[in-house]
Amino acid sequence: MLKAIKLRCEYQENPLGIGETLPRLGWILDTEDSDVIQTSYRLQVSLHDDFRAVLWDTGAVESAQSVLVEYAGPALESCTRYHWRVRITDNHGQESPWSAAAYFETAILDPSIWRASFISPEGEEPDSSRGMRLRTECTLDGDITWARIYATALGMYELTLNGRRVGDWLFTPGWTAYGKRLQYQAYDVTGMLRRGANAVGATLGCGWYKGDLVGWLGRRNLYGTRTALFFQMVIRFADGREQVVASDSRWRASEGPILYAEIYHGETYDAREELPGWDSPGFDDTAWQPARVLRHDKSILTAQDGPAVRRQEIIPPVSLFTTPGGERVLDFGQNLAGWVRFTVRGKAGEKVILKHAEILDAAGNFYTANLRSAKARIEYVLKGGGPETFEPHFTYQGFRYVMIEDYPGMPLMESFAAVVLHSEMEHTGDFACSEPLLNALHHNILWSLKGNFVDIPTDCPQRDERLGWTGDAQVFIRTACFHMGTASFFTKWLRDLAADQLPDGSVPYVVPDVLSGAPAADTMMRQPYSSSGWADAAVICPWTIYQCYGDRRILERQYGSMKAWVEYVRARAQDGVLWSSGFHLGDWVALDAKEGSYTGATPHDLIATAYYSHSTALLAESAAALGLQSDAEGYRRLHAEIVRAFQREFFTPSGRLAARTQTAHILVLAFDLVPDTHRGRTVETLLALLREAGGHLTTGFLGTPYFCRALSDNGRLEDAYALLLQKDFPSWLYQVTQSATTIWEHWDGLKPDGTMWSANMNSFNHYAYGAVGDWLYRCVAGLDTDPEAPGFKRMLMRPRPGGGLSWAKAEYTTPYGPAALEWHREAAGLRVTVSVPHNATAVVILPDGARTLVGSGRRSFSCGIEQRRE
Ligand code: BGC
Repeated sequence: MLKAIKLRCEYQENPLGIGETLPRLGWILDTEDSDVIQTSYRLQVSLHDDFRAVLWDTGAVESAQSVLVEYAGPALESCTRYHWRVRITDNHGQESPWSAAAYFETAILDPSIWRASFISPEGEEPDSSRGMRLRTECTLDGDITWARIYATALGMYELTLNGRRVGDWLFTPGWTAYGKRLQYQAYDVTGMLRRGANAVGATLGCGWYKGDLVGWLGRRNLYGTRTALFFQMVIRFADGREQVVASDSRWRASEGPILYAEIYHGETYDAREELPGWDSPGFDDTAWQPARVLRHDKSILTAQDGPAVRRQEIIPPVSLFTTPGGERVLDFGQNLAGWVRFTVRGKAGEKVILKHAEILDAAGNFYTANLRSAKARIEYVLKGGGPETFEPHFTYQGFRYVMIEDYPGMPLMESFAAVVLHSEMEHTGDFACSEPLLNALHHNILWSLKGNFVDIPTDCPQRDERLGWTGDAQVFIRTACFHMGTASFFTKWLRDLAADQLPDGSVPYVVPDVLSGAPAADTMMRQPYSSSGWADAAVICPWTIYQCYGDRRILERQYGSMKAWVEYVRARAQDGVLWSSGFHLGDWVALDAKEGSYTGATPHDLIATAYYSHSTALLAESAAALGLQSDAEGYRRLHAEIVRAFQREFFTPSGRLAARTQTAHILVLAFDLVPDTHRGRTVETLLALLREAGGHLTTGFLGTPYFCRALSDNGRLEDAYALLLQKDFPSWLYQVTQSATTIWEHWDGLKPDGTMWSANMNSFNHYAYGAVGDWLYRCVAGLDTDPEAPGFKRMLMRPRPGGGLSWAKAEYTTPYGPAALEWHREAAGLRVTVSVPHNATAVVILPDGARTLVGSGRRSFSCGIEQRRE
């Protein structure tokens, strides 16, 4: 029987905080048939869950669209739940019943509804990292049928109602370009309130708003010097009345048990200062201070549109041991981002002190030098009298090892657990093959994603940095989209990218931008904008989300930002085509860098012009996808001119590329900058460069992601496999053989002789080099979206066996449902099994060149093992 299931609105199940933009609805087709395509849908939206009165009925719409269908009914009201359901027909003549009802709920659509003020504890010093508390009470005199909180903060906040935590989101309100956009969250608290007296408690921490950021520049108070709460609770009663409780000067404020909380440095918590009952009704707060109302722009408030950070996994330690230096250390077996939860017994005033590290040094001792100034230290002071369990609030750490510096009595392993934190995203991709080291690499890539998708895409989770470096995000985004559902995550971050982009179109290195205005002492910060390969995130990221999820709105929204970036370059490029000026980070941390330099040997004008051409090509495609024909044509022309200029400038007439580096050759192949006549020579030179390096890569952030693809797309599949499967230093698998559990920032983070790259910049959890994950899915397994039908509406299934692997498989949850592709070598040849979700199709391309268009269902194919020569 045909059914519409898994109803989603804006990528979420029954979301509560739909903001200003019209929600989009989607579902998945469920039926026993194969080759199923939806032929029509009918949507109904109602204020009632029994649909007795229908607000919007689309009638039967002949369409195969089942994802991201935009609501187009009557104007939506604030703070209202809309129920919706769908029924569909398919190409087999089946008609589904109405789906189970789902809902979405709007938040504050009309700003005049806000009654709340930003309130701050009196006397908070700019240098203070103390957790502050605010409280109020209210009396509710009726039967409560519906209650919501809409809240945000300058800083981070946690809320309690009648002593119970509201929701389980962490680090709210999340990090945005705070001066321009401040997210608020929506919570359903109907079941937490009662008739009579109720109490609201809020705890504030510095967070990204006022806490220490950009450790190497020692910045803090970047957005403001005082934390503040902004809170509005709307309560509806059975008799139709509505009551609003909002933050105002009548709230009371006090310091709390969090003596100190900083993202980089950790937390100090004195449980003796807890004040039991402070967030319950009847607490005597006369000793507390009145809250101070802060003037703050409310027009920047926006409903949260990315996923919140939550606890995702709990990992027990695998061992507790003593290092040669005598430190007691827990090993969690996995490098991760999060914190440690522990339970302890002892007397009031006794302490637990923990420190965090990613690795041990060559002697096996606890190693924290690579955290730079980040203290990553937790101190808990016991209140005594029973088992006490603690988790931090406004900090997190990147770690695998935890040193127990102080603890009452003998610590036991069972008393500790690592809590893995990251933004809530659906796990969508799995990859496996016959080579265990590659599976371990895949694992490491996934864990670097988990460790760095903490509200924004960060470079690393451990040292005093953890910033939204645009270059890292753009090289990794395609891989990220395989592993997890990242559309909303990037939607939010890209809004901040656009918000922090300058009027001239230049794009900051990090988003949110916290580098601008930094003291000139740091030479790199002379111009904290517009490095090629970094700023191009403005174009590459929205384009990738569009490709992977079919999300056209992200292109619509970002189009202005994308175009502004390309125009910024055009205005500075020589003759509008060759970009040879400005500051560029280059092929970051490549091994062909000069001694003491972070930037690789590939000339910056070559990289800058190559990226300029790439972004211009993607901008032209985006314009075409949005139906902006004249832009599409204009940027196609510009792209052709850049390519011609590039070839004139960087290729000799006989086809020698000006820069003899791996990255230069990779980029020209990946971005299609090679004249056809010189393609063969370019590929041969790349292979020669690879041989000269003993079969090893010397590439940095910009060359590495495309290395395997540049080879496999140019008839050199086996060479690509050989590179991927290289185990000696430097290589992807070298890290794996060194027991890495995440991706390292440097190929030589840990050298074969046991020494390390300078502690100054040596993260062991940096996803950039994990960008090869994309090749595992798209080439080794062979699953990809067809650019002609983005969002996996039509997919490409093109297994490319090689490297002596006997089998490989990928499973991926597309917007239409799960797809899978698996291949096995057999005596007779290759057996390929594919699974295609309903309402999607796949073009299966076998190594012998046979091509078949298949519909939904599971099928197997056999073919000879010989690759067809390209
Ligand atoms: C970050 C990188 C980043 C780079 C660029 C580093 O400190 O960790 O990942 O892209 O700076 O300058």
